[in-house]
Amino acid sequence: MFKVNDNYLKLPGSYLFSTIGRKVREYKAANPEKEVISLGIGDVTQPLAPAIIEALHGAVDEMADAATFKGYAPDLGYEFLRNAIAKNDYADRGCEIAADEIFVSDGAKCDSGNIQEIFSIENKIAVCDPVYPVYVDTNAMAGRTGTYHTATGMWSDVIYMPCTAENHFTPELPKETPDIIYLCFPNNPTGATITKDQLQVWVDYANKVGAVIIYDAAYEAYISEENVPHSIYECVGARTCAIELKSFSKNAGFTGTRLGYTVVPKDLKSGDVMLHSLWARRHGTKYNGAPYIIQKAGEAVYSEAGKEQLKAQVGYYMNNAKTIKEGLQSMGYTVSGGVNAPYIWLKTPEKMTSWEFFDLLLEKANVVGTPGSGFGPSGEGYFRLTAFGTYENTVAALERIRNL
Ligand code: MLT
Repeated sequence: MFKVNDNYLKLPGSYLFSTIGRKVREYKAANPEKEVISLGIGDVTQPLAPAIIEALHGAVDEMADAATFKGYAPDLGYEFLRNAIAKNDYADRGCEIAADEIFVSDGAKCDSGNIQEIFSIENKIAVCDPVYPVYVDTNAMAGRTGTYHTATGMWSDVIYMPCTAENHFTPELPKETPDIIYLCFPNNPTGATITKDQLQVWVDYANKVGAVIIYDAAYEAYISEENVPHSIYECVGARTCAIELKSFSKNAGFTGTRLGYTVVPKDLKSGDVMLHSLWARRHGTKYNGAPYIIQKAGEAVYSEAGKEQLKAQVGYYMNNAKTIKEGLQSMGYTVSGGVNAPYIWLKTPEKMTSWEFFDLLLEKANVVGTPGSGFGPSGEGYFRLTAFGTYENTVAALERIRNL
């Protein structure tokens, strides 16, 4: 008789955003007359920028002609895209990352879940608490996290680094030494970020203890303040301790078209083994590349027109962030985030739990957000709203919250 991977059976409930989706579907089915506004999952609402659409059309036409048709993409991504990434996201920022250290993929969610495969099951992970659930869930599926305690909402073999109001939602170095450290800045869900000096402390620490940092920079385009690093490779020594994950979803609206990349520097080694070789082996074996037309669209993100248009798009969402933040503050809520990130992190009123507030907002204001406790125990009593809605819906949602 076959056996299942019983690590899956240890996972509590379903994936956070699936649970929310189900609750919202049930509410809508029972209340078809209600117009529900979603500021829950970080999904974009603005159309792809004209430069990207033009590139997509051009690439589709190429696929219609035998002379320019493309089949399988190169394992690690087309060179035109990897070169554009290496120049714009790294060289122009003074970071030393070569095009062949960049692995193009269909998004940072998959990469952030898959990257753990190249590490031994013996490794101990450290995560921020609250945290994007994919990091922990995928390590749990692999059997790296021990047992789950329902009462505490914690896994026995995970090092949690609480991010609370007291530490301005930035983690402190863990007391127990981890092997793999997941960091995400600007942060999902809290919207907090750290300075370059603070990130340098993590890089130095990782190099000292022999840990690897998996740095999720999916929200980098939303940084508005000086001295906030756009890439971990701005820090000295990051090439020997850090993998970076990037997404085209949030900076360029590719949530539906899917594109991302992972950087694994060749200097990052365990003994003599380059993690680059392992990730290349995995990529080549399990993945056939993001579609040509999507990679051409990705290239357009770095064109002059693309850059201009996307700056405006990010500005649109950040205006929503400001509107939400200031609106909630004027109602007396305690709010953070929303300055370098498209997420606003608020304290639930009257000591409500995160899920109680979720239900209240859904039922009384018909607004969907994300309960903080879904991201980890330290998220309890908090709630996340996203700035990725339309401006009109953002304003309408705030009005409804005001009238609660
Ligand atoms: C979120 O809402 O946290 C994100 O949209 C999830 C993701 O990017 O996968």
